Amino acid sequence: MQLTKQEQSMLDGAEGNAVRKSMEILVALGEIFGAESLIKIGSVQVSGVSYHNLGDAGLEFLDDLAKDGRVKVLTTLNPAGMDLENWRQLGISPEFAEKQKLVIDAFERMGILVSCTCTPYLIGNLPVYGEHVAWSESSAVTFANSVIGAKTNREGGPSALAAAFVGKTPCYGLHLDENRVPDIHVKVKAELTKLSDWGALGYAIGKKAENKIPYISGVKTADLDELKSFCASIVTYGAKPLFYIKGITPASGQQVAPNETVVIEQADIRNAYDNINDQVNDIELVCVGCPHCSINEIAKVAELIEGKKVAESTEFWVATSRTTKQLADKRGYTRIIEAAGGKFACDTCMAVAPIKGRFKSLATTSAKGCFYSRQNLMKTKMGSIEQCIEAAMTGKWSS
Ligand code: F3S
Repeated sequence: MQLTKQEQSMLDGAEGNAVRKSMEILVALGEIFGAESLIKIGSVQVSGVSYHNLGDAGLEFLDDLAKDGRVKVLTTLNPAGMDLENWRQLGISPEFAEKQKLVIDAFERMGILVSCTCTPYLIGNLPVYGEHVAWSESSAVTFANSVIGAKTNREGGPSALAAAFVGKTPCYGLHLDENRVPDIHVKVKAELTKLSDWGALGYAIGKKAENKIPYISGVKTADLDELKSFCASIVTYGAKPLFYIKGITPASGQQVAPNETVVIEQADIRNAYDNINDQVNDIELVCVGCPHCSINEIAKVAELIEGKKVAESTEFWVATSRTTKQLADKRGYTRIIEAAGGKFACDTCMAVAPIKGRFKSLATTSAKGCFYSRQNLMKTKMGSIEQCIEAAMTGKWSS
């Protein structure tokens, strides 16, 4: 890989230990993937924030980097393992909280914004069309590439951090236009009537696209919440973190439909629900906000839950960024949701919080949420926001 003089001096240690280590990571990655050079990036989004996943080895690694590592570009964080303020309310142990705070402290010393969200584009980390970035959470990467038209590979936590310290990333993969060409045409001949249908569509396409880049036609409209749900699902269930929707995503007009074609029919959507939904009726946890709720989604929850009460057998979580919750506080949505017995899970989510074994069953609007909750030993139900609120009120799933 060709390095500039300045890059070579960073590799030689002129800017300290964290930058030297970062350059070693970036050069190794670039050589593995055949990059010819590093490319400037506009922002970074770092995953690997939960102490649940990092453990003490990860904490030590971060602590060491934080000694002299300072980010050179806007850098935001993925969800942590707990709500950084109200962790007790979510049943997190003091031992875990102490370790998680040390992780956050290390990131803060590096100059990273402690945003703790998988929807950084909703709270100020919003690239422009065509901009190169280094993001790492899969739904956010897919949103950046597809809905915004920015360019990013799916970084690991360490390579994203390395990019933040250097302000550059190796130029390979989805940074290159020739690797952004769709290779399968997906004709959607199904009606999508609710948010969770987008999760089901992502499941259906992900399974058929099998690590390809889909060019999707037949979708007439899509709003922000539908697209963010779709981004989370399609990449979880098998596609690359880039898609085009004809007439909807910004770069779709520059691409032509590939010859290889698959069709998504109503039966595929039903099949997705059948595969995602387990045989379970009693619901112990209801969680909306995967990816993290927008203010619109919180408004909808508040409208549906006002004047009702969450069942004693059930917990109801609204996962969102702290920044979005502050808007919800101002609009009075927080008061309504909490009066009904709902809890905000800011800074975290059901996949990265240490809740394995605590709940036997989950209801959610999110196909990705179901995927990860099964790994946390939960039976899962995916449905509309109305069905989820109903499950929170009754502790039962009604189909
Ligand atoms: Fe975000 Fe967690 Fe879902 S990181 S996309 S809320 S699994």
